[in-house]
Amino acid sequence: MTFSAMVANASDGAIVLSREEVGDDFLGDGEVTIEVHYSSANYKDALAITPRGGVVRQYPIVPGIDLAGEVVASDDEAFAPGDQVIAHGYELGVSRNGGFAELARVPADWVVKLDGLSTRDAAAIGTAGFTAALSVRALLDNGLTPDDGAVLVTGATGGVGGIAIDILGGLGFEVIASTGKTDADDLLAELGADEVIGRLPEDPEAKPRPLTSARWAGAVDSVGGASLAYILSAIGYGGVVAASGLTGGPGVPTTVMPFILRAVSLLGIDSVNLPIEHRREIWAQLGGELRPRHLSALTDVAPITDAEQVLRSIQDGTHRGRTVFAVEF
Ligand SMILES: NC(=O)c1ccc[n+]([C@@H]2O[C@H](COP(=O)([O-])OP(=O)(O)OC[C@H]3O[C@@H](n4cnc5c(N)ncnc54)[C@H](OP(=O)(O)O)[C@@H]3O)[C@@H](O)[C@H]2O)c1
Repeated sequence: MTFSAMVANASDGAIVLSREEVGDDFLGDGEVTIEVHYSSANYKDALAITPRGGVVRQYPIVPGIDLAGEVVASDDEAFAPGDQVIAHGYELGVSRNGGFAELARVPADWVVKLDGLSTRDAAAIGTAGFTAALSVRALLDNGLTPDDGAVLVTGATGGVGGIAIDILGGLGFEVIASTGKTDADDLLAELGADEVIGRLPEDPEAKPRPLTSARWAGAVDSVGGASLAYILSAIGYGGVVAASGLTGGPGVPTTVMPFILRAVSLLGIDSVNLPIEHRREIWAQLGGELRPRHLSALTDVAPITDAEQVLRSIQDGTHRGRTVFAVEF
């Protein structure tokens, strides 16, 4: 049996993504074989085709940390042919072949059966939206309510940021969107942002202060770096910050002052190795009370053969929102 896949190959210090016909040896071990309908473009997929991107050790690999589609064969009684499912994270697209292919085989305990979401909407949410939902869930579980005050969302035009704005707006929070793009106000307002501000700190040259005037009750941050340090200094008493990303860098030049003088909580968010039971609960909520309301405003659909071009736009910072890949060759 052969099937089509977009395969990343490394040579001469460059990584090229191109269509290939591959065989059974490209399917990993596992109980569930999935005909992939949709994948999507995530920051990590862009890193997978970046030389020294740090997420893939061995090429060739089929990228795609998200895959949504239909079960075509299963050795596990929890799944049957015809089931509509999503799988994301774990080793997909980084140390085993991922979603940029017509077929994938995965362990049953990586698979989530979809309830109330189409495979296309599930891919539009994908790892980014799942991480946004995990972040919002973490704020709620730590007691944050709309009465506490405004919530900041950074990387606002990105996948995590955009869907976080959408979910928070739907829950009745006042949302402040921080973006580096000057022409995104209309999109961000449509998603649910009450105010749009620039990247943080507003003055990157100013000497960082351990604490500054309280501006927000909580934050969903996928930027990290100096931005996260500034946010921690400007969160109000008892506030909560969910941190998931590092587009602004991995180092966070902060002090203990926000924690010991304002009782601020910094909550770590990981979508990759989250145990499957918790993962299935969050997906059920994404089809229900945490369902993003404006996915279509945030999402483009592109053929999988455009994957390299789309991932390059993430690398150069011009991409916005979510791109779903239709896996048809
Ligand atoms: N912890 C997890 O499990 C998990 C899961 C998913 C993603 N992540 C991480 O979260 C981050 C965002 O992922 P994503 O999928 O949302 O990526 P994305 O769609 O590419 O969005 C990233 C956004 O970050 C902002 N940005 C880009 N470069 C920046 C810079 N130098 N400084 C500050 N902001 C910058 C941009 O928003 P604006 O132009 O609007 O500012 C961009 O749209 C990545 O670091 C990713 O690795 C982590």
